[in-house]
Amino acid sequence: MHDTLVRAIGLTRAFPGGETAVLDASFEIERGQLVALVGPSGSGKSTLLHLMAALDHPTAGKIEWPALGPAAGLRPGQVGVAFQGRSLLDPLTMAENVALPLLLAGADAAAADREAEDLMRRFDLWDCASKLPEEVSGGQAQRAALARALAGAPALILADEPTGQQDREGARRLVDALLACVEAAGSALVLATHDPAVATRLPERWSIDGGHLEC
Ligand SMILES: Nc1ncnc2c1ncn2[C@@H]1O[C@H](COP(=O)(O)OP(=O)(O)O)[C@@H](O)[C@H]1O
Ligand SMILES: [Mg+2]
Repeated sequence: MHDTLVRAIGLTRAFPGGETAVLDASFEIERGQLVALVGPSGSGKSTLLHLMAALDHPTAGKIEWPALGPAAGLRPGQVGVAFQGRSLLDPLTMAENVALPLLLAGADAAAADREAEDLMRRFDLWDCASKLPEEVSGGQAQRAALARALAGAPALILADEPTGQQDREGARRLVDALLACVEAAGSALVLATHDPAVATRLPERWSIDGGHLEC
């Protein structure tokens, strides 16, 4: 069994018009590896996470997923992504949003409901389980997006500024719950943040600035 989830060599993403968001990045992500990706706004964090998720394509260099198979099959089930912006599906309740990846991966409804409830309790969301995304706070919506990314215990979790809508104490509790989940599942985690208090909670920190990654 391969233990390398992601391998990138000279990974580059330039946008038309000249902006190079990620430049010549080389790295590997192993099973269970926990990394904070730290850098200021505009440094390339989101672009790098999208490349890791195979949601975007490099303009130069190479990225592969030795343990996960071809990029087209990456999601759902193998890679869970919590996006930086609002990403919940508006017509679904909070609980339905969290259960969705489980249903898409073929779980039966009762099992999906049970796992969604467990995740929502861990992220202090159970009291808004039957609400629609438009009826909850930005912080609750953000925690639900993270819970949804964790559903089904994917091998790789990509969390883009997951504490951006939380206050200090809320951010601490969210990181506690997130680390408990990924450690129990043996998932790898890449968590993009510009908050040093969050970054220091992870055992490893990579920094990115102007698209230059240092691991
Ligand atoms: N779709 C896009 N088109 C053009 N430029 C982009 C696009 N997405 C990101 N960029 C640029 O790439 C750089 C890195 O952006 P981003 O990855 O969002 O950084 P971060 O997540 O660290 O704030 C920024 O200068 C941004 O303006
Ligand atoms: Mg970003």
